[in-house]
Amino acid sequence: MTTIRILPELISNQIAAGEVVQRPASVVKELVENSIDANATQITIEVKKGGKSLIRVSDNGIGLSKDDALLSIERYATSKIFTTQDLFCISTFGFRGEALPSIASISKFTLVTRTKDTDIGTKIDIVGGKIKNVSDVGAPVGTMMDVNHLFFNTPARKKFLKSDNTENSHIADTIAGMALGNSHIQFRYFLNNSLQKNFSSSQSLFQRSVHVLGRDVADKLYKIEFEDAFIRIHGYCSNPSVTRSTSSKIFLFVNNRLVYDRGLISAIFQGYKGRVMKGRFPLGVFFVDIAFDQVDVNVHPSKKEIKFFNSQQVYQAMCETIARSLSRAQENIKVYSKTPVTPDRTSKKSIETFEFFNETFHPEGMDKVAQSSMDWQTRPIVGKFGEINKDFVKEQMWHKPSLPQARTRDGLKIIGQVMGTYILAESKEGIVLIDQHAAHERIVYEKLKQRYFSLKVQSQNLVVPETLELNFKEADFLSSILEDLKSLGFIIEPFGGSTFVVKAVPSIMDEKQSTLVIIEILETALVKKDRFSKQDWLEKCLILMACHGAIRANLNLGHTEIEKLIADLELCENPCHCPHGRPIMINWSKKEIEKLFKRLV
Ligand SMILES: Nc1ncnc2c1ncn2[C@@H]1O[C@H](COP(=O)(O)OP(=O)(O)OP(=O)(O)O)[C@@H](O)[C@H]1O
Ligand SMILES: [Mg+2]
Repeated sequence: MTTIRILPELISNQIAAGEVVQRPASVVKELVENSIDANATQITIEVKKGGKSLIRVSDNGIGLSKDDALLSIERYATSKIFTTQDLFCISTFGFRGEALPSIASISKFTLVTRTKDTDIGTKIDIVGGKIKNVSDVGAPVGTMMDVNHLFFNTPARKKFLKSDNTENSHIADTIAGMALGNSHIQFRYFLNNSLQKNFSSSQSLFQRSVHVLGRDVADKLYKIEFEDAFIRIHGYCSNPSVTRSTSSKIFLFVNNRLVYDRGLISAIFQGYKGRVMKGRFPLGVFFVDIAFDQVDVNVHPSKKEIKFFNSQQVYQAMCETIARSLSRAQENIKVYSKTPVTPDRTSKKSIETFEFFNETFHPEGMDKVAQSSMDWQTRPIVGKFGEINKDFVKEQMWHKPSLPQARTRDGLKIIGQVMGTYILAESKEGIVLIDQHAAHERIVYEKLKQRYFSLKVQSQNLVVPETLELNFKEADFLSSILEDLKSLGFIIEPFGGSTFVVKAVPSIMDEKQSTLVIIEILETALVKKDRFSKQDWLEKCLILMACHGAIRANLNLGHTEIEKLIADLELCENPCHCPHGRPIMINWSKKEIEKLFKRLV
């Protein structure tokens, strides 16, 4: 039988280091967190060769006495918690009492420290976890820790380190994150002896956010703020037009601790829903302040993961705070119009927009659009909408406004259509280019949604019902959503086995497209399986229906149609993005244009 033995302390420290210290940036994080916990107001980080040759963190915190300094490098030695109760109410960054012994076990480590109560400081040298020297030294109040030759005695770990540049960029991100979370502290970061960043303590959170996220986003950050008895959420989020291809510029803080939490990230996405394209990530600095006993930080040795006791409540608050802030702050096209938008204008204008598009430019395809707009009004339901549509269009022609009236608007002067696809207009600030398909898609989408929620969706019967031959899984899923599809306007009935017959489709849709929409919904639902909720597929249906119901690019529009498209757009809840999250309009300010022409430098 094998003999069970207690591992020597050095090995257990090295095992702990495996989890605590994944790369040089983890060392920076642990040391800086210790400095913050020691009430430092100035922290300096010096790094050489990606942190592989040197990481030095010095602070002006409370320091350690000689006895405490010797204790601090022992496993499970901490000044931050004492009882089990403390563990469930952690207010400091550290609490495990393992970072220093772990780091000291895999590097050549030097600690210099002094408290304000003594004139003499203490210096301790450790090599691979073994104390080599303890001496008295002259030192300022505070602590300095040197980590030389990280992983020198664990070659397997060393091998996995990336290039100096990559490790440097992880370190820079870590420092930026901590600087953001602690804007009252000065952080200076030197790389190979040259000053890279100086976050001064006089910076406001906004200035620090701009410092970290980049100057180019300075005028594209929106303040977020929410507070109730349970939670406070605050920070800055980017205008949806500013995105990145990764989530690296999303900084999340829970009680000022920089964390990674999938649930919070997904709540942020929910808040941006319909405003950011798939695969793109917004930027932002998000603070969640919550009672310490409402969050468990003892989830992983790296202390980056957390667990909320009432996660749904937190996620919902985050999502709603962002959505509210975005819709409030969005560069709303309503500013172009001096005339306040009154509810009376709403539906009439919307209807006319649809009708004119239909009549003038797209006799076949646009019939569907015209029909859909009639559906929004209290028109009788008709089986074949083609006939009624033509009459309606003729009727509308009598009321078509004259061209000069349509051409000028207060604030937004329509210049015309370009490339058969975009609407060019002059605003008070400069010029605006509007994507006509995206704009109309947004209008149709919001109308469909209103219609769905007010249970006023209408169907058109198919002259020749379509059959759908499905596989077993698809058939099973379709059977489970037939009733919901009905509320969207799809009337589908089982036809034996896994065959279904589509009898009617939403009025807005081109009937040829409607079966494609159904198939697409089934495919997405089955790929995503349990991650595809009812809300998800309803949303997807509405988006697909809007896409197939909207006017296309390369469709010539006159001033009247454009005028009405804009009028409808400004009534939308989110006039800036199509339902897929693509921008509807691009603005160029006079200043930007003058810069391009080098009139301004
Ligand atoms: N810069 C510092 N200034 C003053 N005291 C420090 C400093 N760094 C560490 N200490 C002391 O050393 C102790 C051990 O530090 P260590 O990082 O190992 O553990 P911790 O911070 O308590 O917990 P964790 O392992 O979760 O970080 C701390 O509890 C603290 O009392
Ligand atoms: Mg610590």
